[in-house]
Amino acid sequence: MTATSRHKGTVLVVGAAGTLGQAICAVLADQGASVCAADARDCTDLVTALGRTHQACQVDVTDEQSVEALLSQVWAMGSCQGVVYAAGTNYTGPVATTSWPDYDRVMNVNLRGAFHLGKAVSARMRQNPRELALVFLSSVAGLKGEYGGSVYCASKFGLIGFVESLASEIAAYGGRANAVCPGNVDSVMLRELAVQVAERTGNVLDHVLAEWANAIAFGRLIEPAEVAQACAWLVSPESSGISGQSIVVDGPPPAA
Ligand SMILES: NC(=O)c1ccc[n+]([C@@H]2O[C@H](COP(=O)([O-])OP(=O)(O)OC[C@H]3O[C@@H](n4cnc5c(N)ncnc54)[C@H](O)[C@@H]3O)[C@@H](O)[C@H]2O)c1
Repeated sequence: MTATSRHKGTVLVVGAAGTLGQAICAVLADQGASVCAADARDCTDLVTALGRTHQACQVDVTDEQSVEALLSQVWAMGSCQGVVYAAGTNYTGPVATTSWPDYDRVMNVNLRGAFHLGKAVSARMRQNPRELALVFLSSVAGLKGEYGGSVYCASKFGLIGFVESLASEIAAYGGRANAVCPGNVDSVMLRELAVQVAERTGNVLDHVLAEWANAIAFGRLIEPAEVAQACAWLVSPESSGISGQSIVVDGPPPAA
């Protein structure tokens, strides 16, 4: 199978305007998918830059009706083969000082939004079984807790539990669902987090970033395209034997 024939239909990317969303859209388009790029932010320029007929949609993942409307639009196209959930938001800070608005903001986007999407897709598949693969962006923070990460980690751990359960349910309708767990990706989200950690610890920003890069034996951050390749493969028929799994995109520990 050549790279250009890997995808046979439309792939919906939610959170398409983010660092990883953009990289995922680019890889999918390159591999022959029709991309439906959805985000709270406008994706028109992104879709134009992809270079052929793709579609931009607006959605607020925290609003079930908005997700329903998006899914109805995508389902009407008739050829949806995959859905990638790359919407997300972050917060760092100790449990003792975490506000409920920050808790709600992270949970609503990272977990409830994913549930809205999984619910809308599985309800449609239940009525009309079809081959379709979903991928949800969790994180290595969904596998191991870390200082200041209580809310973010809880949302990403929860997402993995949701994906494993969803995968078990939709198998009967021809569906698959997997989580992708990236390590530290060179991205806007990571750099914003590094600024907050530098302020909290009194450390220099470059040192924080260097420490994260050197946390793996590659001695560098993961590239967005490396995460995108894993997502694109997981929504393609080439990964037909994989569902209910969490695929880590990260390097091994450095030498002791
Ligand atoms: N960047 C990293 O290092 C990293 C590492 C591991 C996991 N992740 C996860 O991967 C995903 C993507 O990360 P990213 O770096 O591209 O983040 P990002 O902040 O660049 O992109 C997130 C996107 O989600 C969209 N979004 C937020 N709230 C929304 C809402 N209510 N409705 C619709 N869209 C909304 C934003 O507009 C943005 O375009 C996130 O879930 C993140 O937690 C990122």
